Amino acid sequence: MAEQLPSLERWGSLEGKRVLVRVDFNVPVAEIDGVLTVTDDFRLRAALPLFDDLLERGATVVACTHFGRPNGKVDERYSVEPLRRCLATLRPEVTLLENLRFNPGEEVNDAAYGAALVEGFDYYVNEAFGAAHRAHASIMVPPSLVPSAAGPNVQREVTTILGLLDEPVRPFVAVVGGAKVKDKLAIIGVLAQKADVVIVGGGMAYTFAVAEGRTIGGSLFDASYVEECRSLLEGGNVLIPLDARGLLDGASFGVDGGTEEPQSFGDNIPDGSMGLDIGPLSIEIFVNAIGTAATILWNGPMGVFEDPRFGAGTEAVARAIAASKGVSVVGGGDSVAALGSYGLENDVSFVSTGGGASLELVEFGDLPGLKALRESPWN
Ligand code: 3PG
Ligand code: MG
Repeated sequence: MAEQLPSLERWGSLEGKRVLVRVDFNVPVAEIDGVLTVTDDFRLRAALPLFDDLLERGATVVACTHFGRPNGKVDERYSVEPLRRCLATLRPEVTLLENLRFNPGEEVNDAAYGAALVEGFDYYVNEAFGAAHRAHASIMVPPSLVPSAAGPNVQREVTTILGLLDEPVRPFVAVVGGAKVKDKLAIIGVLAQKADVVIVGGGMAYTFAVAEGRTIGGSLFDASYVEECRSLLEGGNVLIPLDARGLLDGASFGVDGGTEEPQSFGDNIPDGSMGLDIGPLSIEIFVNAIGTAATILWNGPMGVFEDPRFGAGTEAVARAIAASKGVSVVGGGDSVAALGSYGLENDVSFVSTGGGASLELVEFGDLPGLKALRESPWN
């Protein structure tokens, strides 16, 4: 399918041409010395090969992105100014338009807004893999109006992720974590069909534990998905944690930490306590399963890893994946951040720039933004 995505190789020289590039520069920022500063420029650096290619061919390059969720209104907190400052240190030749989501037309895929955006441009490139699952105006409209192409990251993301699912070298072990079971259940269903083993960790694993008849105390839980979890477990290749680390209900945890000593739980968590990470037995089982894999897909942390008391599970999984000689693909903001915090981002085969987008690509085998490119009348 990636083969069908229009590529920009066919354009040749772009001397005197204006190219609009949709990027996904939705990156974390924090105030440093009173100035909002990009704290992870991974998505900006990922766009540089495309910018360089276009600039070398003589194009004027204008980039556009969404940033946060300002809900169609101008909101200075979501101005792209910090992104512009970062981009200026990387490629000062590239101009960045103001946040696309300041306009109410963006998220409702308004045709007039999309047309105004691309007005005066000769070409459009979608290099925003992380936003290709959003049927928004800047993603959907330009390919219908000007010659358009998928950028090299988009091409590579699609080839890598779909290739992994089509013909994985086996054993194929998928590792899925994160807080909310409702966000990841469909993906676990797809992966349970394709992978030899699906490891489930993070907050969503407690709904699976309930489906097995175990007690979870005050851990995260979504009653509406117990039945689905139960039928996934019946497939026999979904591994869930057998023990946990956690705290008494009401104790504080998170990025600012807390002072309470973590507790250890077996396969049942008593009332009045909550699980926040997988325990040592689960770590051993998960690490062993990852050790057998020839192909690994990882999305989502095993616990509240931003609190150092509950990072052991995520770190062990990250290290096992990094140590694997198999093909390893990591997607999702949290897993990528975790990998980076352990200094392991160069020890995996592929780090996806997309969170939700990579999950939807696994789930549906396609994305609205890719479809728009394939259906462009200019192809
Ligand atoms: C992301 O960071 O997940 C992407 O940029 C998409 O952002 P959105 O979830 O706000 O659409
Ligand atoms: Mg998101």
